[in-house]
Amino acid sequence: PESITVAELANRMAEKTGDLVKALFRMGSPSASTDTIDQDIAELLVTEFGHEIIRVSEGDVDIRHDEDIDDAEHLKPRAPVVTIMGHVDHGKTSLLDALRGANVVAGEAGGITQHIGAYQVKTPDGSLVTFLDTPGHEAFTEMRQRGANVTDIVILVVAADDGLKPQSIEAIAHAKAAGVPIIVAINKIDKEGANAQRVRERLLEHELVVEEMGGDVQNVEVSALKKTGLDKLLDAIAVQAEIMELKANPDRAAEGTVVEAKLDKGRGPVATILVRRGTLKVGDIFVCGAESGRVRALIDDQGKQIKSATPSMPVEVLGLGGVPMAGDTLTVVENEARAREVATYRQEQATRKRTVQAPVSLEGMFEALA
Ligand code: GTP
Ligand code: MG
Repeated sequence: PESITVAELANRMAEKTGDLVKALFRMGSPSASTDTIDQDIAELLVTEFGHEIIRVSEGDVDIRHDEDIDDAEHLKPRAPVVTIMGHVDHGKTSLLDALRGANVVAGEAGGITQHIGAYQVKTPDGSLVTFLDTPGHEAFTEMRQRGANVTDIVILVVAADDGLKPQSIEAIAHAKAAGVPIIVAINKIDKEGANAQRVRERLLEHELVVEEMGGDVQNVEVSALKKTGLDKLLDAIAVQAEIMELKANPDRAAEGTVVEAKLDKGRGPVATILVRRGTLKVGDIFVCGAESGRVRALIDDQGKQIKSATPSMPVEVLGLGGVPMAGDTLTVVENEARAREVATYRQEQATRKRTVQAPVSLEGMFEALA
């Protein structure tokens, strides 16, 4: 049975403790602010004060994706999380490589991005930007559908020699649906036949009005190959991020989102986690989707082992009991018993869902037999 002190309940309802104490007296169950009260009395009080009862399912941890989970005084600025989107071969990975001074494209099979890379880049003014390189829009949409909208800003990469293509238009639609601002990077500006003006004009058809045309969408001409326009692009991100005043509380138990996860032959289950709030530390006990674990090691985007990771940092986490799914939330909990309890609860929930869906697959089986 759940219980809560009068003061805690007052705090959650944003009411004065004294008012709750008075109400309890009127209800015939006099209590002091430090007394614990039963759930049914708490529920009565909540409705009495005109609030809605939101019950956290007993077996699970309370996951909230909203920003105002922490008091304003605990919030510190955090790096923007930028997702790079665009049509196939328009240069998303090359651009990210150029920005971070690395070469991922060369190591990719067939030059096609197979997974989400997550990296942090330092801008000329010293601030950090977190970049996610997506293999396609499915990952973005899937994570959003699962309530894990990690992206603050979308960079739409459009090749200046190829123009807006179906996947560029799709990316615009996805970013708009998610309410995420778009910065357009007009890439391959070095190529013969490059026509940036044409791209800007075509953007109009999709209600993206660039600044030169009186709108508020920033666009930057770049060449990932010749490494031109990169600082301008980083500046544009900084401008957009400043407007958004992105913040998180680093001084709490960590919460993060899985951006990718895999079973590594040597290292076991590995998940790339984007820390959303709090600080994730080696030794922390956590639940992650339907898996529990203890952080055995944290590896940053340079492949270096680190002791802790703060908001907006992408890190590889080792020490998972199994492989979670992209979009799952990692939540640090107080102890192993609690972690296992929550993981078991979630596994049961998942099994129940599958059982409910069983008739459908049975039907499918009969069809297959017929
Ligand atoms: P997918 O991950 O497959 O969707 O592709 P991508 O958008 O990540 O494109 P990628 O970075 O792999 O680049 C595709 C091709 O375009 C490669 O051959 C790059 O060398 C080339 N390319 C990228 N940027 C530029 C550029 O600024 N100028 C020129 N000339 N070529 C570029
Ligand atoms: Mg790529």
